Amino acid sequence: MVTRMQPDLSVRIGKLDLAYPTLMGSGCYGSGAEFEPFVDLARIGGVVLKSVTRAPRLGNPTPRLVHTPAGMLNAIGLQNPGIAWYLAHDVAKFASRPCKVIGSVAGFSVDDYAVVCEQLAARDEIHAIELNISCPNVASEGETFACDPRLTARVVRAARATTGKTLIVKLSPNVTDIAAIAREAEAAGADALAVVNTVRGMAIDVDAWHPRLGNVTGGLSGPAIRPIAVLAVYEVARAVKIPIVGQGGIETVTDALEFFLAGASAISIGTANFTDPRVPETIVDGLSEYLARRKLASIRDIVGRANLGFANAYQFEGDEG
Ligand SMILES: Cc1cc2nc3c(=O)[nH]c(=O)nc-3n(C[C@H](O)[C@H](O)[C@H](O)COP(=O)(O)O)c2cc1C
Repeated sequence: MVTRMQPDLSVRIGKLDLAYPTLMGSGCYGSGAEFEPFVDLARIGGVVLKSVTRAPRLGNPTPRLVHTPAGMLNAIGLQNPGIAWYLAHDVAKFASRPCKVIGSVAGFSVDDYAVVCEQLAARDEIHAIELNISCPNVASEGETFACDPRLTARVVRAARATTGKTLIVKLSPNVTDIAAIAREAEAAGADALAVVNTVRGMAIDVDAWHPRLGNVTGGLSGPAIRPIAVLAVYEVARAVKIPIVGQGGIETVTDALEFFLAGASAISIGTANFTDPRVPETIVDGLSEYLARRKLASIRDIVGRANLGFANAYQFEGDEG
């Protein structure tokens, strides 16, 4: 009897080996423990933890979440206990996870990122670091790190100097030229790029004549942003050589495939976990079936396969109409 080999879903992101190409998005999966009763954590690649900052943060005023027709707006405001408490009370609990654990670092100065990254990466429980650079830099009038190539380069260089562990830099879609930011992050020492974080947005209560979010503005996630995210992956993939973790609105295996075909080596699932914690396992099953049906040995065989040459991709003057 001939036994057919299961397609290989393992991927390597920098120095990080993942058994499955699926990460759970920061802020959307707790530490993994919250989901353990519902899913087999051994069947996901890894969890990206909620972003942690140098000082404790209470987060933004409520309401912090607004449902939208195809996703949600959030303005949590990086609520977290600060790195000292986190190291003393939380990190040890991550040691027994049957998947990889990726720490997420946020900050409001270059120094913040370096300090938190160094302390978090020094812990054995943390296998890699993601830099959430969608934060305002207090030294330059609140300009977002991820929206400025120079600031991106500075913050990545500073974090890079503190650790040899895999450094994933998470880019923002709220920019004109994401490829330019991606190139700076790569040149400054990023091992991989997470593409993309939430899209800025707001919602208004028409009875109260008031913004719905306590913070006024927030970040849009879920299926509404998927085409924006797929394009961002597509453009970043042609700008850099380092691997990409694609994310933004992934709910089904077809959604996931779009990201791999655009050029992502792995994907991240965030908002979908709130409505169905089995989505990551369903996607893993679906990827296996898809590859087997096409007699492909590995998920790596499809990465970037829909990423056409520039002449094909940009043969028209504009995209609309
Ligand atoms: C409630 C909520 C909290 C989030 N918190 C963080 C965070 O702390 N750090 C971060 O880098 N991204 C955070 N994100 C962004 C997600 O990790 C993800 O990149 C984004 O939502 C797009 O993917 P999705 O559409 O699958 O959710 C958060 C998203 C949501 C919805």
